[in-house]
Amino acid sequence: MSVLFKNIKTLLQVRDEPPKFVSGHEMKELPLLENAYLLIENDTIVDYGLMSDSEGISAEEEIDASGRMILPCWCDSHTHIVYAGNREQEFVDRINGLSYEEIAERGGGILNSSKKLNETSEDELYFQSVERIHEIMQQGTGAVEIKSGYGLSPEGEIKMLKVIKRIRKEFQLKVVPTFLGAHAVPEKYKNDKSAYVDLIIDEMLPEIHENRLAKFIDVFCEKGYFDLEDTERLIKAGKEYHMRAKVHVNQFNAFGGVKLCTDHNALSVDHLEELTQEDIDALKGSKTMPVALPGCSFFLGIPYTPARKIIDAGLPLAVASDYNPGSAPSGNMNFVLNLACIKMKMTPEEAINAATLNAAYAMGVQSLYGSISRGKRANIFMTEPMSSYNVLPYNFGKHHIEAVMINGEFIKKPQD
Ligand code: NIG
Ligand code: FE
Repeated sequence: MSVLFKNIKTLLQVRDEPPKFVSGHEMKELPLLENAYLLIENDTIVDYGLMSDSEGISAEEEIDASGRMILPCWCDSHTHIVYAGNREQEFVDRINGLSYEEIAERGGGILNSSKKLNETSEDELYFQSVERIHEIMQQGTGAVEIKSGYGLSPEGEIKMLKVIKRIRKEFQLKVVPTFLGAHAVPEKYKNDKSAYVDLIIDEMLPEIHENRLAKFIDVFCEKGYFDLEDTERLIKAGKEYHMRAKVHVNQFNAFGGVKLCTDHNALSVDHLEELTQEDIDALKGSKTMPVALPGCSFFLGIPYTPARKIIDAGLPLAVASDYNPGSAPSGNMNFVLNLACIKMKMTPEEAINAATLNAAYAMGVQSLYGSISRGKRANIFMTEPMSSYNVLPYNFGKHHIEAVMINGEFIKKPQD
């Protein structure tokens, strides 16, 4: 099957030789073609160029994209999209004055989601999760990282990872699984946290490795959750199984977690609402991608990750949704783009780079996703007619997406 998009007003994020990611001032550059064509064959981008050079190019299906933008699909490098039920009561409790931390101290928060997940069957968990998968694909997400972390027991964590595997097999979007056994200390281990870390290392990791259920390992490195020592043990244990680290760090407190992660060559450090000069220095020269989760800052009312400080220091930055029931119950990457520009003062070019190319790197899929490049997967979306791509982050709460193609298939068809 071949599809030709013609008369594209602007084809964005076009890279003949895509870099692994862009940093600092390079993030301000968003390569594009005006009045372009894009040719898809099966699941692959095979060609693109200017309409003036398109003579003789045809396909089985031809789509007129006059007035419209075409972009690579969003890559969402940090989600907890597999969960049971919701936490709407905690949402109301927060409106009435409790903080996220206070709710967690009372046994709510992650432990509340863990209880719900352990009471939910694998099938039911799958059905609840795929509703969210359909929703994010309609919103233009073509690759998603999904973490475990609400099981907090060997059975619960494996159940979550099996659901993630089933989603990976049954949907067109790229799914990258991450093991987050160290998301919170379960009630049973509250006076013996290191025994829980032992359980993760001795029981969960070998089984997950044997059944190839996760590509990365994550830890919630935070006061009241897992400290530097626990985090280092877990990162090292993951390495034994070739699982590189992607770590929740500096959400509420900065105490050296970023340097620990860069020292261990983590793929990404995520959250960073609190960020010190030492953290910035640790990131310089590393291969670790900083990831901001502005939906979490928006929902919890905590500081936004200081994007300007990061980018102006010459570093790269990715943005992700953090879709989860407690701190960011939305996977809408278009809204993440709104927040990146409005609240984090990123330019539209920087925000689009952060949500595509850099985000693909942050989940280890940059060789096939994150840009319009020959040979990359046909994961693209087409907008409604618009004056320029600035309109995408400008109209907050609106997504402007008319058609979505994932892995060469239309998930949302263009109107005739
Ligand atoms: O990234 N901070 C840790 N984990 C999630 C929240 C999980 C939850 O509250 O259920 C986050 O914000
Ligand atoms: Fe998270």
